[in-house]
Amino acid sequence: MNVITVTLSHFRNFSEETIHLHPGINLFSGQNAQGKTNLLESLFYLSTLRPLRPVKEREMIQFGFPEAKVTAKICSFQREQCLSVGLSKEKRRVLCKNGVLQRKVQDFTGTLQSVFFSPDDLLLIKEGPAGRRRMIDLALSQLRPRYAGILTEYNRLLEQKGKILKQAEEKPSLLELLPVYNEKMVQAAGQIIAFRHAYCKLLSQYCERIHHNISGGKDTLKLAYTSLSNLPDTSLPPEQLTILAREHMNAHSKAELASKMCLSGPHKDDLQIFINETPAKSFGSQGQIRTAVLSLKLAERDILKKETGQSPVLLLDDVLSELDSKRQDFVLNRIAGGQVLISCCSIDRSARAYAGKQFSVVNGSIRECTDF
Ligand SMILES: Nc1ncnc2c1ncn2[C@@H]1O[C@H](COP(=O)(O)OP(=O)(O)O)[C@@H](O)[C@H]1O
Ligand SMILES: [Mg+2]
Repeated sequence: MNVITVTLSHFRNFSEETIHLHPGINLFSGQNAQGKTNLLESLFYLSTLRPLRPVKEREMIQFGFPEAKVTAKICSFQREQCLSVGLSKEKRRVLCKNGVLQRKVQDFTGTLQSVFFSPDDLLLIKEGPAGRRRMIDLALSQLRPRYAGILTEYNRLLEQKGKILKQAEEKPSLLELLPVYNEKMVQAAGQIIAFRHAYCKLLSQYCERIHHNISGGKDTLKLAYTSLSNLPDTSLPPEQLTILAREHMNAHSKAELASKMCLSGPHKDDLQIFINETPAKSFGSQGQIRTAVLSLKLAERDILKKETGQSPVLLLDDVLSELDSKRQDFVLNRIAGGQVLISCCSIDRSARAYAGKQFSVVNGSIRECTDF
C-alpha cells in the first residue's frame, strides 16, 4: 500500500500543505522544529487515530485555529481510497472514508497501515510497561480493527470507573454503578488478553528471527507477554480469560476502593523483553537495545505485510543517523519494496541513494527538491 497525496490543513505547524509522495522512498530533510515529525505524525494518526505521544487530540490543531483536517489519498490493493479526519476544539472528531462519514473507530483504522519508528522507541525497553502496551495496541488496532473498538470501549469504562472510585467517598451512591462497570470490563478484558496473547506470540517469533540476523547470531531476543497475576497461561479462550479476570477483579475490589484506583485489568499488562535470557531493561547495552528495538519494528512491519498481504507505510523519524552504517544498510535493503517516509536533519548519504523523491521542510512548508 502507499500514500499518493497528503493534505494538511491547520495540522500542528502546517497551515495548508499538499504533497505528492513517491511509492518508494521519500526523504524529508530540514533543521530541527520545522515540522518533519509533525508530517509523519499526520499519517500515523490517519492510520491509528492516535497521536504519536499520548496527548489530547486537540493539541494537534494549529495554535490559534479552531479546526484541523488531515486528508490522504491512498492506494491499497490497486484501489484508490480517500481518508480524512477533521479535528475541532469544540466538537467530536469527524472520520470520513471515501466521502462517507464513519461512526466507528474500527471501520476507519486498518485502512491505512503504518509502522512508526523514532529514537524515542529506545525507551520502549528502558521505561515502564505503558510504552510496550501502546506498541502492542497500536499494531493490533491496525491488524484487527475489531480490537481497536474493544480497546476504545475498555478505556472508556476504565476512565469512568476511575472517576467513580475517586468520587465514591463524597457520593457513596455512585458505588451502585460499579458492578455494571466491572462486568463490562471483564468481558472486554477476556477479549483484549486473547488478542494480545496471539499478537505477542507472533511478534516473538518474527522478532527472534530478525534479531538473529541483525546480531549475526551473537545474541538471542525473547519476548514474554504477562497479564493478570492469576493468569500464568494467557493462551486460554476469551470466555475463560473473562472468568479469571472476574475472579482477579473481585479479589482486588477492597484494595481498589481503598486506593481509589483501578488495580485489576489488562491496563496493567506488560511485554517482557529478554536479551540472552536476561531482562533487556536492566542489562542491555545501548547497542543491544538498539538492535532489539530495530528487530521489534521490522517484525511489526513483516507481520502487517504477511497478515494483510501488502507492506504497511514505514515512517522512519530521524532514525537513520542513530544507526551505524551496517544497520542503516540492513534497514534500507530490508525495506525495499514498500513505501517509506524518512525524516532526517542532515541528508543521510545512504538514504539519498535510495530516495525516489526528496523534500525539504522549512517552518511548516514542504517543497519537493528536483535537483538531486
Ligand atoms: N498544535 C501546534 N500548532 C502549531 N505549531 C505546533 C503545534 N504542535 C507543535 N508545533 C510546532 O511544531 C514544531 C515541531 O515540529 P516537529 O515536527 O517536531 O519538528 P522536526 O522538524 O524537528 O521534526 C515546533 O516548533 C512546535 O512548536
Ligand atoms: Mg522530529
